[in-house]
Amino acid sequence: MELSVNAQAIAYLISAILFILALKGLTHPSTARRGNYLGMAGMALAIGATLLGAEVQSYGFIIAGVVAGAVIGSVLAARIQMTAMPQLVAALHSFVGMAAVLVAIGTFINKQAADALNPVLMGELSAGVIIGAITFTGSVIAFGKLQGIISGKPVKFSGQHQLNAIIALVTLGLGIHFAMTGSVWSLALMTLLAFVIGVTLIIPIGGADMPVIVSMLNSYSGWAAAATGFTLGNNLLIIVGALVGFSGAILSFIMCRAMNRSIINVVFGGFGGETGGGESAAATAHEKGVKSASVEDAVYWMEDANRVIIIPGYGMAVAQAQHALKELMELLEAKGVEVKFGVHPVAGRMPGHMNVLLAEADIPYDHVQEMDEINPDFPSTDVVLVVGANDVVNPAAKSDSSSPIYGMPILEAGKARNVYFLKRSMRPGYSGVDNLLFYQDNCSLVFGDAKETIEGMVTALKGGGH
Ligand code: TAP
Repeated sequence: MELSVNAQAIAYLISAILFILALKGLTHPSTARRGNYLGMAGMALAIGATLLGAEVQSYGFIIAGVVAGAVIGSVLAARIQMTAMPQLVAALHSFVGMAAVLVAIGTFINKQAADALNPVLMGELSAGVIIGAITFTGSVIAFGKLQGIISGKPVKFSGQHQLNAIIALVTLGLGIHFAMTGSVWSLALMTLLAFVIGVTLIIPIGGADMPVIVSMLNSYSGWAAAATGFTLGNNLLIIVGALVGFSGAILSFIMCRAMNRSIINVVFGGFGGETGGGESAAATAHEKGVKSASVEDAVYWMEDANRVIIIPGYGMAVAQAQHALKELMELLEAKGVEVKFGVHPVAGRMPGHMNVLLAEADIPYDHVQEMDEINPDFPSTDVVLVVGANDVVNPAAKSDSSSPIYGMPILEAGKARNVYFLKRSMRPGYSGVDNLLFYQDNCSLVFGDAKETIEGMVTALKGGGH
């Protein structure tokens, strides 16, 4: 069976609508699952309509590619830890970038053989190669930094921005020369330099900014796909590329706004390398004038509270404490305590990180509130339980203009009557700065793995506590 051009166009149109509905679904946790299903249906339809199109001449290579890709993808998806998701996403973007480069070069070879090259097509090929190559090496470096294969520290040297600007201009010049002349040498050199830009663009970026960069590379991979769509004359690829390109760009802006940073500052910055960090827990805490508390102390105040607010952070994801938190919530509610969750837009290491984990543990959506919604409630709250969060409650963001997180909006946990931090040590959060809240009178640290501590609280509450 071979699809007519019209039938294929209709199938592509339906796919495009499904992709748009998928994005709409992904805007809220309660509809995200449906959004994913719609996206999968759109992709299945798009692949089916492409495979049945007149342009496909044989299926051998396609089947081999699909089988190999499906096996690798399934193994990766099954094995990946939630905390390693950003690097997986970075690795997948690198494939999109490389695909754009290969499609552009393959198209050039084919069209040259058929004597069908023209400046417009070669301009499109230039765009595909440049964006694709930058996406490829940029994503490989981002993957290396996030996976810890290469140092997460910003690599900076003097004249770096000038050097980048010169390489970018030369690459652009070669792209124009290639579009006008079809010179193989221009194509080769342009590809090589674009690969270099991907590296030089990402190495100066510090660990804490990597998620924003991954989201930006996501946007680039969309533009690379759109450029490939132009090259292949495939409307669906152009639409999907633009959807990915814009949603990645919008997400980058949202993340920057939540951290009170400008996108320029992130792209050229060097904020937040690896966290240094003190070794010990209670002893160091004592030396520094920080109070430590036991599980029982925290339980004592929580069960008598009118309201408890739980603030999850990256450490909750590391400890996988969300299920234990659900149990804690239910036990406290059974004692008449109102329990809410306060989620900061950049808590964790990727957008929506906390919401996904809380949803996984079936914590009702109406218990989960965003920063602006919950901040007015802190002064009238008896206990705040900070579960593996740090930077997102650090008052230095408001009071210390020399702090690298100065200006970032925070969850105002310090305004509550009692604050308990569940963490393993005195080590700082991802930005590497000390948390001023630790030194406040109403604040204590309960040292230990978040999951174990919460399980201890659950046991204490079940056993009648103290
Ligand atoms: P962080 O400030 O990174 O703090 C996480 C804390 O969790 C650490 O202080 C760590 O202390 C603790 N922790 C780690 N493992 C733990 C475990 N097993 N049990 C208990 N505690 C554990 O996290 P946050 O408050 O969620 O802030 C997120 C940071 O990432 C912000 O700086 C944000 O700007 C940055 N960031 C986020 C995003 C997105 S989109 N989410 C994007 C870019 C940057 P110990 O080592 O002492 O246990």
